[in-house]
Amino acid sequence: MAVLEILVYPDPRLAHASQSVPAFDKNLHKFIEDLEETMHAGPGGVGIAAPQVDVLQRIVIVDVSGKPKVSSHGRLILINPQIVANGGGLVGREGCMSVPDYTGNVVRAKTIQVVAYDEFGERQEYACEGYEARVIQHEIDHLDGLLFLDRLVSRRRDLFRRKTYA
Ligand code: NI
Repeated sequence: MAVLEILVYPDPRLAHASQSVPAFDKNLHKFIEDLEETMHAGPGGVGIAAPQVDVLQRIVIVDVSGKPKVSSHGRLILINPQIVANGGGLVGREGCMSVPDYTGNVVRAKTIQVVAYDEFGERQEYACEGYEARVIQHEIDHLDGLLFLDRLVSRRRDLFRRKTYA
């Protein structure tokens, strides 16, 4: 396993859209191991997307189970994920390993229905809410070349310099 290098804003590669994963093979499993290790090596460590390590494939890992009082599915490997339904809207504070010095207030759907493939190519469907739904929406944005910075209503009002990692 290996900890991979994280691209940091304003690296232009973070703005590229990712391609669908074509094959669920050994190379994919090896990459997912490395991506997961990279996620856990970073501060925060609740989510990561492949393009953050310069791999333009639609792969996301989310695990918010370490956060107290948060309902979650545990460790989620989401390949070629699609949000097929959503509801509500909530403002919440977000950070990102690719934007290490700032956090920002972003509106996200409160509930989402996600269809994705797991690392074995099995189709899965998850109903998520609250913080887990927020992290999934944030990570799927990375697959489309979007950062939370792109979702701020106002940089002056909604962007905050980070003092410490929570
Ligand atoms: Ni991020």
